Amino acid sequence: MTDIENLRQRIARLKRELGAVVVAHNYQRPEVQDIADITGDSLELARRCTQLDSQVVVFCGVRFMAETAAILNPERTVLLSEADAGCPMADMLTADELREWKRRYPDAAVVCYVNSLAEVKAESDICCTSANGLQIVESLPNDEILFVPDQNLGHYVSTQTKKHVILYPGFCYVHHRIKPEQIEMARRLHPEAEVLVHPECQPGVIALADAALSTSQMLRYVKASPHQSFVIVTEEGLLHSLRRQNPDKSFYLLSGSQICDDMKKTTLETVARTMELKRNIITIPEDIRLGAKRAVERMLAVT
Ligand code: 13P
Ligand code: SF4
Repeated sequence: MTDIENLRQRIARLKRELGAVVVAHNYQRPEVQDIADITGDSLELARRCTQLDSQVVVFCGVRFMAETAAILNPERTVLLSEADAGCPMADMLTADELREWKRRYPDAAVVCYVNSLAEVKAESDICCTSANGLQIVESLPNDEILFVPDQNLGHYVSTQTKKHVILYPGFCYVHHRIKPEQIEMARRLHPEAEVLVHPECQPGVIALADAALSTSQMLRYVKASPHQSFVIVTEEGLLHSLRRQNPDKSFYLLSGSQICDDMKKTTLETVARTMELKRNIITIPEDIRLGAKRAVERMLAVT
């Protein structure tokens, strides 16, 4: 039996013993996505985590995603597949810093991208994901919006609303470093392909794309599209599901640097060890959890 098959069987046995469900984000390694019971984008995973009946949730992704599961499910044990897997963008804003920004803009409603610390969600009026930013902003009565922490998603939303959107200057290094010239080059190399970008990309990149979509929206878009080839401008992990669901279509990346190091920290070995040791349990102080829960549930009620 191969090492991978061995690990797959070990994880299947641990799932039965713990009564656990394994949840994986679309950016996870292919072999990790393959052992997951549920895969999806941040919005889908947040929603699915409210509908589980298992006592233990093993979250293969980064810390803020596992925190969202724990925020919504205090009665369940949520294990993060790899303790060190964080999101550098989420770490760019603390609750203290957000309180300072709120003092500067007292009339603004705070819309917080889920890629954020639990303490930041607790200070926010409502959360959003890359799939529903505009819908969330439009659902609010305020004309002024303080959008944190991703400046690029916030800017993309601001181009589609009449509201005044104030941008906190956070960013995702994986998407922010992509340059418009790379899109132009990809168009020259693959003139027949549609270009799909994640809204965490810079405005100049989004302007050159055919669509700006969350990861699961890209999966749905490609399935429905009559086109045969696509340039995919997000983390390369998405290619696994894209190829599996569309074996007759072609996918191109811009470069070899579309990799989120934190997403790749989870391996089959770390998943198995985490389950065996019941380690990396997500705990959130109750006052913060309740504040964050209000912001996440308000988002789920809108979308
Ligand atoms: P999605 O919610 O679109 O999957 O994005 C999550 C993320 O971390 C993007 O960098
Ligand atoms: Fe965070 Fe970017 Fe990685 Fe997504 S891809 S988890 S935003 S660092």
